[in-house]
Amino acid sequence: MSNKLVILGAQWGDEGKGKIVDLLSEHFDVSVRYQGGSNAGHTVVINGVKYVMHLLPTGILHPHNVGVIAQGMVVDLKALKEEIEDIESKGNRILHKLYISDRAHVVMPYHKLLDKLLERKNGIGTTLRGIGPAYMFKFMRKGIRMVDLFDQKVFEKKMEENIEFVKDIAEKVFGEKFEIDTRYIEEEVVRPFEFFKDRVIDTAKWLRENTKSVIFEGAQGTLLDIDMGTYPYVTSSNSSALGLANGTGFSPKYFKDAKIYGVAKAYLTRVGGGPFPTELHGEEAEKLRERGGEYGATTGRPRRVGWLDLVALKHAVDVNALDGIILTKLDVLDGYPEIKVCVAYEYNGKIYRDFPASLEVLENCKPIYETLPGWKESTKGLTDASKLPANAKRYLRFIEDYIGVPIVMLSTGPQRHEYIFLKEIV
Ligand code: IMP
Repeated sequence: MSNKLVILGAQWGDEGKGKIVDLLSEHFDVSVRYQGGSNAGHTVVINGVKYVMHLLPTGILHPHNVGVIAQGMVVDLKALKEEIEDIESKGNRILHKLYISDRAHVVMPYHKLLDKLLERKNGIGTTLRGIGPAYMFKFMRKGIRMVDLFDQKVFEKKMEENIEFVKDIAEKVFGEKFEIDTRYIEEEVVRPFEFFKDRVIDTAKWLRENTKSVIFEGAQGTLLDIDMGTYPYVTSSNSSALGLANGTGFSPKYFKDAKIYGVAKAYLTRVGGGPFPTELHGEEAEKLRERGGEYGATTGRPRRVGWLDLVALKHAVDVNALDGIILTKLDVLDGYPEIKVCVAYEYNGKIYRDFPASLEVLENCKPIYETLPGWKESTKGLTDASKLPANAKRYLRFIEDYIGVPIVMLSTGPQRHEYIFLKEIV
């Protein structure tokens, strides 16, 4: 196995990355999260115990694996403390083997407030975790970084400036009275920081000097990438492979021999607003949502559901230079007499085979489908590729032929052992 492995979302998030990373990270010394924040929700079930990871890399659940929250992340300190405490209460000690970047930005309570206000005006359906505003402050060069919390004077000065700014926006743009109780900041930021401040270091340097083998865990998915996704219906970070270098502090050169795999569902889902050419509605949608248990791990929101979109998946393959796809939830399609797959879009009489940048096209295009025969047999929990129904194999082959890279692994259920390797992941 390559000593640098990247696992990221090839769709709009929620592809089932948590379980895959949990499985694969067993072979790595270090696991790194490099973008996003507590908007992510990666669910893992280990020996019947369920863990929902929001900020921590999933790999840290393995006793030997060191976890890194790298500089590209925006960190909600209270949420991180609660996440660590929850995992430790289940008997898994992790704090002593976690490193947090001193350059990572802090999600402040007023970022969450701003997220709510911005959502009220032409909202895009964010997770309301303050992610967009935290990155907005970062790029305005007004953000508070972990390192600032070591110096009370610096922290307070920056915070006061920030609060003035937010107050102006809240009152002048949104006409909302804005007051923030400093006790709240104490509770949400200052005290949680005390809990893990010993773990805050220059993670880029630590990674350069200590890492033997490392797994990088993407959050969200390629179609939510700020540059390559369905802008503006995206998250505020580079959730594709484009975020690896700036998110970790490694030069792009470091990744030249990394293997990069994209996780994709056998169908498609999305939470929040934005274009979704293959979206299903009514009873058909209800059926797929119920079968797939498609409710958000972070917000509990019902997910929008639809058929697999190969135009979008091929975009993810190209953007990330994927070595292969890890396909999840194939079993959700068991029993469907026919399965549709989108192979192109049509808009204004023009056929699109490349994923368009234009929101207008994405929102108004008509998906062009191929219809493939379904299978009656259950694929749930299968661990042997030879037991896959012939039409399921045909479905997989169709996908591979279109996207031009292999499906290297199948996940066949939520449990750790429910998977099939179709190719060696190296
Ligand atoms: P934000 O990341 O909270 O700003 O939300 C921006 C968009 O990304 C919204 O459509 C969210 O629903 C979506 N999003 C953010 N994080 C995730 C995730 O982990 N899974 C799926 N969608 C997400």
